[in-house]
Amino acid sequence: MYNSLRMKIYGTAFLVLFSLVQFSCNRDRNHPGWDYFPDMFYSTAYETFSENPNFTDGMTMREPVPGTVPRDFVPFGYTADAESRARAGNELANPFSPAAAVLDRGREVYTIFCAGCHGIRGNGDGELFTAGLYSLQPKSLTDSIALSLKDGEIFHTITLGLGFMGAHGSQVLPDDRWKMILYIRELQDRLPGPAGSGPQR
Ligand code: HEC
Repeated sequence: MYNSLRMKIYGTAFLVLFSLVQFSCNRDRNHPGWDYFPDMFYSTAYETFSENPNFTDGMTMREPVPGTVPRDFVPFGYTADAESRARAGNELANPFSPAAAVLDRGREVYTIFCAGCHGIRGNGDGELFTAGLYSLQPKSLTDSIALSLKDGEIFHTITLGLGFMGAHGSQVLPDDRWKMILYIRELQDRLPGPAGSGPQR
C-alpha cells in the first residue's frame, strides 16, 4: 500500500525542483545566466588573444625577442638552391651511426614520410605515383645519382625540398632526418649496383 505522507513529500519536492528549473532559465539571450564557480570562468590573467592595455600595440600575445630561438631549436643556415645544397653536403655530417635502433627509427619515419612517393625499396615506385595520384615520377633514391649524394645534401633536400619535391622540415625532426638518411643508405646497400659504386657518406 502507498504511504500517502511519503507521496506528499515527493510531490512537494518535485514541485519545488520543477519551479527552480523554471526560474533558472532566462529569455534574455544576451545574459549568460548565473555562473557556478565564477573564478574558474574568468581568469585574472590576460587571455592569449584578449586585448591588453599594458602594451602599446594592445595585444597580449608577444613576438619573440629579435634574434632569439626556441630552446633546442637549431637554425638551419641554408637556402633552397643548388649552391646552398652543395655547401650543406660539405659542411653537415650525420651525427648518428647505423645501429639497429637508429635504422628502425629511420625505417619508421621513411615509411611514413617518403615511401608514398619514393617507394618502400627507395627506387621511386611509391604508391602515390603507381596509382596515378602523383603524376611526376619521384626520383630513385638508389640509383647512381642518389648514391653520389652526400648525407648533408639529402638532409638539405628533406629540410627545404628540391624542385617539385616539397620541404619536409616542418614535419620531420632533425634527428629523424639523419636516421632516415642512414636507412636510405641501407636501402642502397641492399640493391645490387655496379661494383665500387658504394655511397659517399
Ligand atoms: C610527394 C612526393 C614526394 C615525397 C613525399 C618525397 N619526395 Fe623526395 N622527391 C620527389 C620528387 C618528385 C623528386 C624530384 C624533384 C625534382 O628533381 O624536381 C624528389 C627528389 C628527392 C631527392 C633528390 C634525389 C636526386 O637524385 O637528387 C631526395 C634525396 C629525396 N627526394 C628524398 C626524399 C625523402 C628522404 C623523403 C621523405 C622525407 C622524400 N623525398 C619525400 C617526390 C617526393
